[in-house]
Amino acid sequence: MSLRAFFCLLIGGLVLACQSGPQDELTQNGSGLEDTTCSQGMELPKASPMAAAMRAMAEQAESMRAWIISDSSNRPAQPAWAPMPFETQRPTDTTVLVDAFFEKAKAYHESHRLVGEQPTAKNFDALVSRCIACHQSHCPGPLKRINRLMIGS
Ligand code: HEC
Repeated sequence: MSLRAFFCLLIGGLVLACQSGPQDELTQNGSGLEDTTCSQGMELPKASPMAAAMRAMAEQAESMRAWIISDSSNRPAQPAWAPMPFETQRPTDTTVLVDAFFEKAKAYHESHRLVGEQPTAKNFDALVSRCIACHQSHCPGPLKRINRLMIGS
């Protein structure tokens, strides 16, 4: 196979993996912790440091959501939700590291700080919309899981 054909196949495969695949069905019912990742490489057990950070961010967002929607008269003190400087971590695919990506990362961190200061459903949904904005351009695979985080304020 020529090198060019090889790369075409490789890129084609990555693009397909980024579109919604059969794994989306698994994650639809909310129980699926198996993410539809951005690319095939990410299905390997050894995740990139950025993917690992994303998993922690997704878990943090889920627990943040649970705290925010819980009964405010009967819940533990607000946890300190630590920021996650994911953009400094090595991604699976380094071509994501373009200016627009870093701008979206910055917007995410601003929303993260705001929801920490004012933990309202509205501020949380604004945070989730930052996840979505970046994922739409740079990693559509996990969008279904991320969309489900929206409280709908
Ligand atoms: C500025 C861009 C950006 C923002 C903001 C962002 N992500 Fe990601 N996310 C990525 C990229 C890029 C990857 C692929 C990482 C890799 O493979 O190295 C990723 C991967 C993921 C994954 C798959 C991880 C895995 O198991 O391989 C999940 C789940 C995820 N993100 C959820 C979220 C959630 C939830 C938020 C918001 C709380 C969020 N992301 C915010 C860019 C972003």
